[in-house]
Amino acid sequence: MTEEGKQSFADEENLDAQNPLRHLMHTGDHCVDGSANTEDDIVPEQPKSVLNSSVQLEFRSSSSGEPVSMRLALDASPGCGGVHWPAGQVLSQYLVHLGPDSLRCKKVLELGSGTGLVGLVAAQLGAAHVWITDQAPLLELMHKNVLMNDLESDVSVAELDWGTPVADGIPKPDVLLAADCVYFEPAFPLLVQTLYGLTDAETEILFCYKKRRKADRRFFTMLKKKFSWTEVSDSPERESYSKDAISLLTLHRKDVGV
Ligand SMILES: C[S@@+](CC[C@H](N)C(=O)[O-])C[C@H]1O[C@@H](n2cnc3c(N)ncnc32)[C@H](O)[C@@H]1O
Repeated sequence: MTEEGKQSFADEENLDAQNPLRHLMHTGDHCVDGSANTEDDIVPEQPKSVLNSSVQLEFRSSSSGEPVSMRLALDASPGCGGVHWPAGQVLSQYLVHLGPDSLRCKKVLELGSGTGLVGLVAAQLGAAHVWITDQAPLLELMHKNVLMNDLESDVSVAELDWGTPVADGIPKPDVLLAADCVYFEPAFPLLVQTLYGLTDAETEILFCYKKRRKADRRFFTMLKKKFSWTEVSDSPERESYSKDAISLLTLHRKDVGV
């Protein structure tokens, strides 16, 4: 082996010692960068270090109305939900496109809210009340974002771990939102179970999804047992987000009317 080859081998061994899982991880820069993943990547894409950061986002309707501005605290230390993901931005933009009338007097619940972005946009648009939910480690960040946007009276933050009983005080919503929640295979059946448990014939479900791995298909195989879906066709951004492998779907329970 050449000297150069030996050095490269030693470097590889050094990196393996620091992170034994590194060969299983996606090497993209950022979990929201949209880069292709392969079937070998069994660990979800990892966020780069974002600690105590913040971002200002603005969503404008192409037709009319005031833009919706949102200041978001970001912190990836409690989990990858601590940064804003691309499907969340697409769903937020679509809600702004639909405008306040679509949410007026409606109870809205978001699953896997992460920073809370989508639910906070729904609240700013004038939903009757919004529940943003996630696993326990994300709740502090979500509270922070509610306060930063002066939405305390319109938004409740609640723990909702998919596949577990929904806490008292979280109602069946009129509108159920979920963005970028398909990425971890063991959670697929749990997410379907929670989607089913929280909905009935009347619930509007907006589900925004970014395809990353072929294994995501298994989620849709499970989903198909309980729900059918249609691609949202009236989003002005559809052509652009489709290029990033993002789909915006409305889900319909299959047992409606049974
Ligand atoms: C990729 S992030 C998306 C966050 C946010 N919806 C967005 O679009 O920016 C997925 C979110 O799902 C949450 N999540 C993952 N598994 C979950 C589970 N079993 N129960 C509840 N939330 C879960 C994560 O904590 C994370 O916040």
